[in-house]
Amino acid sequence: MSDAVHIERAGPIALVAIQNPPVNAASHAVREGLWNAVETLDADSDVKVIAVYGSGRTFIAGADIREFGKPPQEPMLGRVCSKMETLGKPIIAVCHGNALGGGLETALGCHARVAIDGLTVGFPEVTLGILPGAGGTQRAPRLTGIKAALDLITTGKRVNAQTALELGLVDRVTTGDPRDVALAAAQEVLYGTLKTRAVRDIDVEPDDAAIDAAAKALAAKQPLLFSPHKCVEAVAASTMPIDDGLARERELFGECMESPQRAGLIHAFFSERAVTKIPEAGATPRKIEKIGVIGGGTMGSGIATAALLAGLSVRLNEQSSEALSRGVATIEKNLEGAVKRGKLAEDKRRAVLDVNFHASTELSDFADVDLVIEAVFEDLDVKKTIFKSLDGIVKDGAILASNTSYLDINALAAGTSRPADVMGLHFFSPAHIMRLLEVVVADKTAPEVVATGFALGKKLGKVAVRAGVCDGFIGNRILSHYRKVADYLVLDGATPQEVDAALEGFGFAMGPFAVSDLAGLDIGWATRKRQAAFRSNQERYVSIGDRICEGGNFGRKTGKGYYVYGGDKPVPNPDVEGFIAAERAEKGITAKTFTADEIVDRYMTAMIAEAARVLDDGIALRPIDIDAVFLFGYGFPRFRGGPLHYADTLGAAELKRRIEAYAREDSYFWQVPSLIAQMAEDGTTFASRN
Ligand code: 3HC
Repeated sequence: MSDAVHIERAGPIALVAIQNPPVNAASHAVREGLWNAVETLDADSDVKVIAVYGSGRTFIAGADIREFGKPPQEPMLGRVCSKMETLGKPIIAVCHGNALGGGLETALGCHARVAIDGLTVGFPEVTLGILPGAGGTQRAPRLTGIKAALDLITTGKRVNAQTALELGLVDRVTTGDPRDVALAAAQEVLYGTLKTRAVRDIDVEPDDAAIDAAAKALAAKQPLLFSPHKCVEAVAASTMPIDDGLARERELFGECMESPQRAGLIHAFFSERAVTKIPEAGATPRKIEKIGVIGGGTMGSGIATAALLAGLSVRLNEQSSEALSRGVATIEKNLEGAVKRGKLAEDKRRAVLDVNFHASTELSDFADVDLVIEAVFEDLDVKKTIFKSLDGIVKDGAILASNTSYLDINALAAGTSRPADVMGLHFFSPAHIMRLLEVVVADKTAPEVVATGFALGKKLGKVAVRAGVCDGFIGNRILSHYRKVADYLVLDGATPQEVDAALEGFGFAMGPFAVSDLAGLDIGWATRKRQAAFRSNQERYVSIGDRICEGGNFGRKTGKGYYVYGGDKPVPNPDVEGFIAAERAEKGITAKTFTADEIVDRYMTAMIAEAARVLDDGIALRPIDIDAVFLFGYGFPRFRGGPLHYADTLGAAELKRRIEAYAREDSYFWQVPSLIAQMAEDGTTFASRN
């Protein structure tokens, strides 16, 4: 029939299997195959009932996302679903694994749905900047009611088979092999024990209150996003006659498809998967069951928590018993938080600590661990000493990793007898929550050690990105550069709150000054002090942050930084205004005004420029790796796809023009990276380098 859709006959029953590994995405071949199968079986009067199921690990995970942005090819999935729904003989869906997006819509086009235990259903379209475009916004409300459908469609949340049953999306939940269940369910249709009906024949109960509430909530919570609002409009159309509603859904789907947010969100989806494609992918990871964490501060405790949540056995080391107790207390608190967030069952919480956790002040307790992650404060000499001691303690083949944010992994490796077993594992705070993990590959790191870093990342639920050694690796090196622009903007005339508001308007969850306050101003202060020795005297230096710290104010944790905390919401710290005025006076700067767009343009251009250098230096493998770093570790707005995806929407020529214009004010900071100059000349994009 077709490679992607296979028909099997069993008397009056026809089984239709979707076979498009790995996830049976509803590609053109699948849609065409289904269309033809339905037509063939419709014409065959011996066939009395049809059951559709998925071969392999899943039903249908949705439309084939790789086809988005290309010219659409008929038959569209919506037409396939309507053809099934209006078929003159019963057609049922048997779903296992995932029935997501277009997969769930295919099932809703059938006359009954049988779920196999373990099934996940949902409409993730909104997370890709679109809406269910194959009838989901019209058929789901007919089964679940408008309110529940809005909840599913505007959030993209995924639910299990039992919840799908309670919501009315499926008719029964059972267990078994998909083909066997499909055959048995089809027989039941023949016997009349499994009822069938077309969803289009069900009336929708209007619910204006739910529509209004959803529209208002989204306007307040997600004003910058496009598709969630379109989802509400589409569901609102479900009270119309179904064919009118489907036409309206199609129109709105088209608008979403055209939006740049769709391209950004889909790039973000693929970035999470692209980063796993590394040169070391073929190497066999070492077995990691027991890990040691050195340092019970915020980072060390967070890393230990992440490992415990992933079921690993963890040893925590601190120098003194007081520091060790503080670390243990932080881990206990983190685990309580994990219980509240539904990541850990309450009855498992105690067991995790009793069975899998061991705290000690003796490094010799690390003799049998498979991997050690050092997370002490940022001092190269201290870290070198620790690595040297560990080298003499841990077993052969054990991996030594540093969680340093900036320091030289090659220098740490050189002090050990096992440089091939040393790498950086750079977590982001809070380490048990933030998804990014930079796997820093030093000159001598062995391929299987890199592969182990990625395997560990996967086990911990992280997005692991391969980075090379330099000051700050991918993320912090780029951050150190563009963060200066925020300070320059303030020195030249903007207020910190104007800068924050402009970048929040661009889509960052928080502006850079609010972020600095949250992270602790002392961290940036320490970095600036460390960098002072090798800072060029041509570089503009802004000391407003230093002034705040000198007064003992380190941001949120001390109640005061760029903002003052403690009231209903943070308010600008009045002292900062004085520091700014003094520094402008001292440097003879006359304040200018900057529009929000100008602020965003300068900040983003600096970010892209340094990202281009990181790429050119081979610190990141591809532009998409840099995008992933910013999406998963730096709160970059997902709908913009990442800094280099965004850069392509501007074009290299525009970036070069901007940098040259800014360079008239500061030719040291603003230099056109050679990669951007080359791209401007040959008209290429970052995407072409993915
Ligand atoms: N289209 C194309 N490729 C897809 C895909 C899709 N819908 N879903 C997954 N893939 C690819 C992945 O990119 C990956 O490719 P790779 O091996 O080359 O990197 C491969 O399939 C395996 O995917 P995962 O690594 O994610 O495998 P998991 O087992 O971890 O997860 C999954 C499986 C839960 C199905 C997950 O892939 C997923 O959530 N997929 C997206 C589902 C989705 O968003 N569906 C809606 C699509 S939009 C739509 O349907 C529009 C409709 O309304 C018209």
